[in-house]
Amino acid sequence: MNSFSDQKDVPAPCQLVTGGAGFIGSAYVLEARRAGIRVINLDKLTYAGNPANLSSLAGDPDHILVRGDIGNEELVAFLLQTHAPDAVVNFAAESHVDRSIVDPDAFVRTNVLGTASLLRVVKDWWRSLPAHRAEKFRFLHVSTDEVYGALQPGDPAFTEATPYSPNSPYSASKAASDHMARAFHETYGLPVLLTNCSNNYGPRQFPEKLIPLVILNALEGKPLPVYGKGANIRDWLHVEDHCAAIARVLESGAVGRCYNIGGHAERTNLEVVRAVCAILDELVPLGQGGHADLITFVTDRPGHDFRYAIDCSRIEKELGWKPVHAFESGLKETVAWYLANRPWVDHVRSGAYRDWLAVNYGQRAAATGGTP
Ligand code: NAD
Ligand code: TYD
Repeated sequence: MNSFSDQKDVPAPCQLVTGGAGFIGSAYVLEARRAGIRVINLDKLTYAGNPANLSSLAGDPDHILVRGDIGNEELVAFLLQTHAPDAVVNFAAESHVDRSIVDPDAFVRTNVLGTASLLRVVKDWWRSLPAHRAEKFRFLHVSTDEVYGALQPGDPAFTEATPYSPNSPYSASKAASDHMARAFHETYGLPVLLTNCSNNYGPRQFPEKLIPLVILNALEGKPLPVYGKGANIRDWLHVEDHCAAIARVLESGAVGRCYNIGGHAERTNLEVVRAVCAILDELVPLGQGGHADLITFVTDRPGHDFRYAIDCSRIEKELGWKPVHAFESGLKETVAWYLANRPWVDHVRSGAYRDWLAVNYGQRAAATGGTP
């Protein structure tokens, strides 16, 4: 089974979802509500958190969006006591590698200290539950394949046994949070589950990440910045496949166990950018030349991990999950979503977004010598 459970004769389950106004969190919240799960959504609404991602839930009494920080102990304790969730699903994080290079402290604050605080407050509340409730409770911590470091071509894909070797402030902060989640299981018995997944793509991704950035720049005829030679490889996973995997792990995952989640879709960055351009050529043809003419090689990201690849045989064999979206069709649907949702796009490209583009790309000289 790949989807959320749909049991009819039991009381509606309730989950505290953190970061549920972001890209992946909002996709998860929408799926959870479709499955009848009551959602308390705790989100700080940083630049990446967008209530418009959840506009289809307007008026839904079983989705409660609370603006707040996972590090706010009183608020988290209040939400736990008031709503008594069956699970906490922790998506809340600073999530962009380039921003972590510019401002690592923000990543330590939320990803490390915030997660540690959340774990502690949840543990204290969980210990107060009657045994039958405590036994069924789950804390699922959402993490990334980037904690495993970088692969070279031909290296075997990351398994759950691959030692952690994070290289960016982002992946180091996520690695620290994973260790805390694991420690809370080993030390206190908190029923923790951990997922490490590859690069997500799909609707509602903030356009600081490669795929939406390229779509939106191309639509405006702006340069498509490819770091280095565009040879770095990522394993792309559709956000809906990721959310279905999280639901499977919550339903049937073994407590204390980690599950890698990947899309079986390794592509170089240049392949991804060219694929976006080819889709745009079909959907919104340019007068002359193609969108790929906009590809511009720029100075590489410092410490740029060369390749990520996920071996997700554990979740496939033990929990029966598999990704169902093929990358090419999923990418085409994603491009079409951005074309069809111009108000969403205009809203997220606020002054703060333009400031970020100036910070990240202003200093990146176009690299010489490469041709797309
Ligand atoms: P995102 O940046 O789109 O969303 C993060 C959300 O967390 C935002 O809504 C933001 O407002 C909220 N948030 C940030 N700090 C907070 C705090 N202190 N308290 C409460 N809320 C806070 O990120 P995403 O791409 O949706 O990623 C979600 C999770 O998945 C993250 O933990 C990330 O590390 C992990 N992940 C992402 C990817 C990916 O490709 N996007 C891949 C693997 C793992
Ligand atoms: P990104 O979407 O930032 O995800 P991550 O760094 O977590 O993998 O980047 C995906 C890949 O695309 C990564 O190898 C960096 C590269 N990239 C570019 O080449 N140009 C860009 O403007 C961005 C944002 C990323």
